[in-house]
Amino acid sequence: MSLSLLLLLMVGSSQAEHFLGTVITYYPKDTFTNGSVQVVLRYKTNFNSCGTLSWACLSGVCGNESLVQNTVDTESSGEWCQQEGKSTRLVPTNAPFQLHLDGGNWIGNIQNVTGWKAVILVELRNRSDTGKANTSPQTTILPLLRVPSNCSRDFNLLAFDPDGDEVVCRHANAVNNECEVCTAPSFLSLSSSCSLSFRPTSSSNEGSYAVQLMMEDFPRQTISLTQTDSSQVQRSDHDSISKIPIQFVFRVDSAVPSCTEGLYLPRVLPPTPANREQLSTQVNQPLEISIKAEASVSSISELLFSGPYNTDQETLAAGDYVLRWTPSEDEVGESHPICFVVQANLSSMKYQSELRCVIVTVTPDTTASPSPVTNSQIFLKMRIKSAVVLSEEVMRNTVLQQITDELVKRGLPGNFTLRLINFNPTTTE
Ligand SMILES: *[C@@H]1O[C@H](CO)[C@@H](O)[C@H](O)[C@H]1NC(C)=O
Ligand SMILES: *[C@@H]1O[C@H](CO)[C@@H](O)[C@H](O)[C@H]1NC(C)=O
Ligand SMILES: *[C@@H]1O[C@H](CO)[C@@H](O)[C@H](O)[C@H]1NC(C)=O
Ligand SMILES: *[C@@H]1O[C@H](CO)[C@@H](O)[C@H](O)[C@H]1NC(C)=O
Ligand SMILES: *[C@@H]1O[C@H](CO)[C@@H](O)[C@H](O)[C@H]1NC(C)=O
Ligand SMILES: *[C@@H]1O[C@H](CO)[C@@H](O)[C@H](O)[C@H]1NC(C)=O
Repeated sequence: MSLSLLLLLMVGSSQAEHFLGTVITYYPKDTFTNGSVQVVLRYKTNFNSCGTLSWACLSGVCGNESLVQNTVDTESSGEWCQQEGKSTRLVPTNAPFQLHLDGGNWIGNIQNVTGWKAVILVELRNRSDTGKANTSPQTTILPLLRVPSNCSRDFNLLAFDPDGDEVVCRHANAVNNECEVCTAPSFLSLSSSCSLSFRPTSSSNEGSYAVQLMMEDFPRQTISLTQTDSSQVQRSDHDSISKIPIQFVFRVDSAVPSCTEGLYLPRVLPPTPANREQLSTQVNQPLEISIKAEASVSSISELLFSGPYNTDQETLAAGDYVLRWTPSEDEVGESHPICFVVQANLSSMKYQSELRCVIVTVTPDTTASPSPVTNSQIFLKMRIKSAVVLSEEVMRNTVLQQITDELVKRGLPGNFTLRLINFNPTTTE
């Protein structure tokens, strides 16, 4: 009696929450000798309070799950909370399977989309080109993006594929059962390369919209996929391999007196990384991302981000932030997405900067001996032009010393060590 009452109460409270979208990606891990495969799925769920939720099996054999859930970020006025779930599944074979997440309701929106539903197709069969299981495109998104109705803005969503596939975006559709109510906002145009363009629209279109997209990876040439039982299928450059959903709220706010960035809408400043920039960091070493923005009419209030749940944010001043993420040993070789916007306010209005995203690839710890205790670390990115071909050896033994000498000559105290993390030689004539 008391148990059923408790269940009713729990159902009641979960229905009171309002949905602001989700996104899910996966990373194949070990294949065991008995043929079973371990896969890590990382998903974000966005609600108007910090609720947790797990994905259920829709088709195929989805195996057993062990799940960790944590808060990624919350909007300060309580508009949203993003949670991340890290789900480790052990499946008996590498056969494809689908997971889904559904319920009600989306937050109030102009399209009258109420019920929500998202579906992922996990493809773990071995690819003939890499000899490994397929990895899904990697992306993330903030729960709510906003733009004034009289401004233009392009949102170039992060669409990174670790296998080098072509990533294509499209609206989720009802025929494939990818959404509950599949109405796309009419004035947001989506390119296949995952850019959403907003152009000034009439004030009658102001309000919230549910955006429900699918991201798919297409091989650049025909490959075959091999299952544990040795059966094979072909995938040409017209066939997608995996399918992931990306859903969020897009809000059209009332018109702003000027769309020029740096007045009402925050303007992003250096050294903020460029959108879609590829960064890398070693295991157990914190990656630091500096983010700066300014606004002269409105007041910058906060940094909003989406990334791994153990990403910390530090506020140095209004409009001056650092995001810090330290990958662990089991994340070596993985690429993790981080997206952010800077938000400002003026009386009751909120204004967002452009959306920027980066992808962070985790490299193994190459330091032979434990690294000495350091007070601080700075990551430098340099482009070096050389008349002779530079090897990694030459970089380590000669060029690093030359850079060190130059930095000291320019006034840096000499008590620092310069270390090479990543070297990408490009051929010269
Ligand atoms: C396969 O091997 C893994 C790792 O040893 C084990 O955890 C799993 O239970 C095994 N699966 C089956 C179906 O026996
Ligand atoms: C998965 O869970 C089921 C039911 O709890 C259990 O019988 C089975 O042994 C588990 N399989 C693995 C591989 O852990
Ligand atoms: C949404 O519902 C309202 C109220 O029922 C209605 O006026 C409006 O036309 C609907 N909008 C759409 C896009 O169906
Ligand atoms: C798939 O590739 C993994 C790693 O390369 C290997 O261990 C596994 O045996 C392969 N499985 C099949 C079915 O080819
Ligand atoms: C935005 O709207 C305001 C007032 O409606 C107008 O004065 C301003 O010029 C508009 N800005 C742009 C870029 O259209
Ligand atoms: C604007 O942002 C500041 C700083 O976060 C906050 O204290 C203030 O309450 C916000 N004002 C409104 C109207 O949201």
